[in-house]
Amino acid sequence: MCGIVGYTGPRQAYPVILKGLKRLEYRGYDSSGVALLNGGLHVYKKKGKVADLEETLVGKNMEGHIGIGHTRWATHGEPNDRNAHPHLSQSGRIAMIHNGIIENYAQIKQDLIAKGYTFKSDTDTEVLLNFIDDIRIKNECPLEEAVRIALRRVVGAYCILVIDNEDPETIIAARKGSPLVIGIGKGEHFLASDASPIIEYTKEVVYVNDYEIAIVRPDELILKNLGNEKQTPFITKLDMDLTAIEKGGYDHFMLKEIFEQPHTIYDCLRGRLDAENGNITMSGIQKYAEQIINANRIIIIACGTSWHAGLVAEYVIEELCRIPVEVEYASEFRYRNPIIHKGDVIIAISQSGETADTLVAIEKAKEQGAIILGIVNAVGSSIARASHAGAYTHAGPEIGVASTKAFTAQLAVLTMAALTLGLQKGTLERDKYLLLCKELAAIPEKVDVILKLDSQIKALAEKYKDAADALFLGRGYNFPVALEGALKLKEISYIHAEGYPAAEMKHGPIALVTEQLPVVFVATKDSYHEKVVSNMQEIKARKGKVIAVITEGDTVTPTLADDIIVIPPAHEVVAPMLSVVPLQLLAYHVGVAKGYDVDKPRNLAKSVTVE
Ligand code: G6P
Repeated sequence: MCGIVGYTGPRQAYPVILKGLKRLEYRGYDSSGVALLNGGLHVYKKKGKVADLEETLVGKNMEGHIGIGHTRWATHGEPNDRNAHPHLSQSGRIAMIHNGIIENYAQIKQDLIAKGYTFKSDTDTEVLLNFIDDIRIKNECPLEEAVRIALRRVVGAYCILVIDNEDPETIIAARKGSPLVIGIGKGEHFLASDASPIIEYTKEVVYVNDYEIAIVRPDELILKNLGNEKQTPFITKLDMDLTAIEKGGYDHFMLKEIFEQPHTIYDCLRGRLDAENGNITMSGIQKYAEQIINANRIIIIACGTSWHAGLVAEYVIEELCRIPVEVEYASEFRYRNPIIHKGDVIIAISQSGETADTLVAIEKAKEQGAIILGIVNAVGSSIARASHAGAYTHAGPEIGVASTKAFTAQLAVLTMAALTLGLQKGTLERDKYLLLCKELAAIPEKVDVILKLDSQIKALAEKYKDAADALFLGRGYNFPVALEGALKLKEISYIHAEGYPAAEMKHGPIALVTEQLPVVFVATKDSYHEKVVSNMQEIKARKGKVIAVITEGDTVTPTLADDIIVIPPAHEVVAPMLSVVPLQLLAYHVGVAKGYDVDKPRNLAKSVTVE
């Protein structure tokens, strides 16, 4: 979703901002813009890609040492040049970019219209901007104070950067609910929605908290709360390097990230899982182990692919720890007065750590006394900070919009947590625990084996790329994998795809089966296997095309399926980390074969920072 970049310092701001916007493209957007201060405020914006903006600016004087840039993912008003950010206040003095949604903008707009303001765009951003400027003019106060007064009256989520024509050094920034990172250089500052535009200049960053305002000059960073009290900036060191956010020879980030999985899963297990001696060290989880073990139930909240990881975790935790688990879409959970008892344990799963619905849902549960464990990939993100404890997935930055390596890392972390808790609770016998530790440790190598099937899967993608619909079926641990396979395909190839429990297929989706319908079965050898094979027979009897992901050594399934993808054997508890990989590759290759931009699929955003 919207990406924000700002710079103030001795460098030329435009190249820093442009590069930063390109680094943020992965978040998903539909227009972009930049404002520079250089003997006046110069605002440029364009519908489409950052490259389209760049093209229109060739030959223009883009000098200036302070500026802000934005990629917009439309919420209020369609994607066009007019609605793109930055916006300029009616007085012409202030420019602003914004990520988030101002919920009470309509009322504020009405009041401003009554005062004679007119608006050039349909955005809530232009309303907030003129609201700030109106306060500044009326109170004859500094911009910083006007921002503070305005934000105290605003309902909604925001990260804003504001620059003032009369102050050629200062960027005023503020956040609530939408991320903001400030990079600290030598005599310069970088501001962005995440660390990717900053990493090549400095590793020292400050993550701005909700309800904080930053006054940023080349040599100075002042943090205040909305009550005008100074806050001490907490400087952290970024633990990532530039290679992590570049394609490194792959055609797309998505492919790179699929291929990184042997390493990312290994990195996630490293230092935590000692399979030889049967030790698992997860300090965050350990801190709350007693409460978790004794919890009446665990509620997992997440969105998208992370929600699918939660569904797998439901099977794993219930099996190994015998604790009832509910898996909730964060967006549903937060709005229906959820029943939470003190001591209930919430596990929030999020790659970005910034998903607005998940963030608000955990805040709500926290208020009601729940313990919040965050399973998060992005270090220092809002969800990580809002959680009582948890575990990072250590998958490294995920740039491709369709989540891949974050999913398998989430499963690795959740499985380790379930193993250690099950053992402590006594619901998991030591022998089985030891076996599963070894099974888990073997996953990275087995993923490596699956990746060697890439060209075979590419050929399958060619064969099925023109399908109008697809069905993904699985049972047990592989049911969420079927959902994830369908999600990947629809995100990347725009083919309508549905995931279903294989047995439930008889209650509806079977009506769709024709000779044209590819049905992907996640049919690895597990305790459900025979049942899944029966479901496959039912599809074949109706002439559907069966593509089956099966386990090495399975001699029965190949006689039924039209196409097979053979993967190494694994215990069913850890099998989803393997069975999902061919489905990721299938979606990727279908998307590429259809000529789509798989890293930036239409309408999707990587980090959904609005509700
Ligand atoms: C967006 C992304 C998905 C992701 C979901 C949840 O929809 O495109 O890939 O699974 O948000 O995001 P989170 O960062 O909370 O895991």
